[in-house]
Amino acid sequence: EESILILGIETSCDETAASVVENGMLIRSNVVASQIKSHKRFGGVVPEIASRHHVEQITLVCEAALEEAHVTWEEIDGIAVTEGPGLVGALLVGISAAKTLAFAHSLPLIPVNHMAGHIYANRFIKEFTFPLVSLVVSGGHTEIIHMPEHGRFELIGETRDDAAGEAFDKVARVLGLPYPGGPEIDRLAREKEEPSPLNFPRAWLEEGSYDFSFSGLKSAVINAVHNAEQKGEHLDQADVAASFQESVIEVLVTKTMGAVQQYQAKQLLVAGGVAANGGLRHAITKAAEEAGIELVIPPIQLCTDNAAMIAAAGTIDYLQGKRANMGLNAQPGLEL
Ligand code: KG4
Ligand code: ZN
Repeated sequence: EESILILGIETSCDETAASVVENGMLIRSNVVASQIKSHKRFGGVVPEIASRHHVEQITLVCEAALEEAHVTWEEIDGIAVTEGPGLVGALLVGISAAKTLAFAHSLPLIPVNHMAGHIYANRFIKEFTFPLVSLVVSGGHTEIIHMPEHGRFELIGETRDDAAGEAFDKVARVLGLPYPGGPEIDRLAREKEEPSPLNFPRAWLEEGSYDFSFSGLKSAVINAVHNAEQKGEHLDQADVAASFQESVIEVLVTKTMGAVQQYQAKQLLVAGGVAANGGLRHAITKAAEEAGIELVIPPIQLCTDNAAMIAAAGTIDYLQGKRANMGLNAQPGLEL
């Protein structure tokens, strides 16, 4: 049996990334050029700056991915690229590079959904067992997905306003912490050993709903910080961070476990940048143990954006015969 080697390319946000993956499960190389430093002074990702950095980095990053994997173009079977969701100008850089390389080396071009990529980062850890449920929590998305088989994604619930990562970033900003705020809140919350002293709201929504809402929680945190300031008081940063994080995690974990039970899932996957959160990892591990369900969470460097996950998801699409032609375009609002 010959192995399948897929080159993945990811440029949907602020990481320029390329990776070679063997048989959808083995990382041969995983190159990520982060732009976080360039965006930090603006407190968030500046789309125009992101696109320019991608243009500067993409060729080097792709070459490095092949070099680190010790493979030649002749050995590559296909090129998988993120077509969306993401920033349109950023996506276009990766797509243009993928088209060019596919044309130059006569290789098939495989369009990949970024969120499917996040889910498939788990396949580097464990083979999937269906049906499975995945909690997907990133800067732009918060979703509970039911997967009856490879490549099929059914939406069970999603956020009605802010994404979980977005809420982390906004609360961090109110606390005067740098971008990206998620890891900063995580770090502060780790410092607190006793239960969180501030009682922020949990949005459970209607009975039986798997949807989320984080804007009320965000407002409650902002109001608490501002009210304290007006009274000349000062809320402890770590108290606010830990209490906010606890509220987010309680709702995420409770609803996810409800979905696991309802869909009689054989496996629970966690995916996306917020899956790097220490509190979430701890809480969902405990809940999965209690429920007796197999839990898979990628190591932290595979939770945040990378191209190995795009190559992993792309390998399934490649085997299922999914191809794009040279008309492939960026789809900033693409859904699973
Ligand atoms: O998946 P990702 O890298 O990019 C998107 O596709 O959005 O997710 C980025 C998000 C950001 O909002 C970031 O603050 C959050 O993931 N994040 C975290 C942690 N690490 C990254 N949130 C909470 N705790 C963390 N340790
Ligand atoms: Zn992402």
